[in-house]
Amino acid sequence: MASSVFHAPCGAPSIKQLECQKYVGLRPSVTLRFNCVKTKTVTTRRLVVTASKSHDGTTKKLGISDAECEAAVVAGNIPEAPPVPPKPAAPAGTPVVPSLPLSRRPRRNRKSPAMRASFQETNLSPANFVYPLFIHEGEEDTPIGAMPGCYRLGWRHGLVQEVAKARDVGVNSVVLFPKVPDALKSPTGDEAYNDNGLVPRTIWLLKDRYPDLVIYTDVALDPYSSDGHDGIVREDGVIMNDETVHQLCKQAVSQARAGADVVSPSDMMDGRVGAIRAALDAEGFQHVSIMSYTAKYASSFYGPFREALDSNPRFGDKKTYVIRVIELYANYREALVEAQADESEGADILLVKPGLPYLDVIRLLRDKYPLPIAAYQVSGEYSMIKAGGALKMIDEQRVMMESLMCLRRAGADIILTYFALQAARCLCGEKR
Ligand code: PBG
Repeated sequence: MASSVFHAPCGAPSIKQLECQKYVGLRPSVTLRFNCVKTKTVTTRRLVVTASKSHDGTTKKLGISDAECEAAVVAGNIPEAPPVPPKPAAPAGTPVVPSLPLSRRPRRNRKSPAMRASFQETNLSPANFVYPLFIHEGEEDTPIGAMPGCYRLGWRHGLVQEVAKARDVGVNSVVLFPKVPDALKSPTGDEAYNDNGLVPRTIWLLKDRYPDLVIYTDVALDPYSSDGHDGIVREDGVIMNDETVHQLCKQAVSQARAGADVVSPSDMMDGRVGAIRAALDAEGFQHVSIMSYTAKYASSFYGPFREALDSNPRFGDKKTYVIRVIELYANYREALVEAQADESEGADILLVKPGLPYLDVIRLLRDKYPLPIAAYQVSGEYSMIKAGGALKMIDEQRVMMESLMCLRRAGADIILTYFALQAARCLCGEKR
């Protein structure tokens, strides 16, 4: 057989020569190239493996038979091979010591790039990334000061281009965050379920262009709330749980109707996963998934995001009344309480947010639950790496890749990251 063809299921667009960087921070010694055959519908990627022609039975004769070669060796006529290289010299003055009697020397398995690549436990791929994108009604893309390299994208222009760039390097999942005009905000956030609102319109547009794009949406009232909160705020400052859940269900159904693949409640109200599941099912959206912000901590790492959407709470802070927010970043077991509720209410994916400072929580949920785990590398984590890089205090690219790999190692299947495009380009061997 001259060649075998493997059909790999591939909903994602073809990836530009995905170079398998086997070890972050190390140049791969062997580069595997997956050449993706582009088909019209882009549903199948073919890996063509060609078997060596010389094994078709027609071996070229060199003059001496195998038996003659063996006989020569038996007779003591050993053919020449390159000499064994001399033992590398240690620098003068190196102490001469007896070898330590170690039965285990872990450095053995790390002695060459190829061996390190063989034993790498965790991998990072553009398929693991979900790209958070900020959208607005405008035509222009507006830079976000606190998040260098991020923009509020015009939903009809900049956004579509950004999605195209991401797909080009294998990132085929996005999550949308709208900047809503102040005039459309209200205490009850009713714009959140306007079927002609910015998010539904954007979903139609993206699905029209890219039917196989995976679209995640954010379910929470903060972009639509005149108070800047994830829920409806009572006179005394308490977020009203059940009334907010009622609104969130309408929001999720509206997003599903527009074509969202995964709705992601980020509000932390009690019972919202079950209520959203029931509302989706009642409207015939059994196929729409729920990614629950299971363990969303009241964190100062969200600062730059709130600037991006101009969604700073008008008063108070979220930890006092966003009831389901794990009140303090000091709590660990409380994540289990949330995870139990989300799992039993039908969540499809459990999310931990922020990411890097909460690796223990990611690992906890990974070990205790069979559901896929998402980690959100939030705006503050992104901006710190960007700032450190700009000030030449750290190597931005390497720290970026390391932080993403660490989230995977801790147990995250997918990572919501503003670095999605930059990191995917890096994985694909593109400089920039
Ligand atoms: C709000 C929401 C926030 C983020 C995602 N969804 C901010 C908040 O809770 O105030 C933060 C993301 C980031 O900081 O990158 N529904």
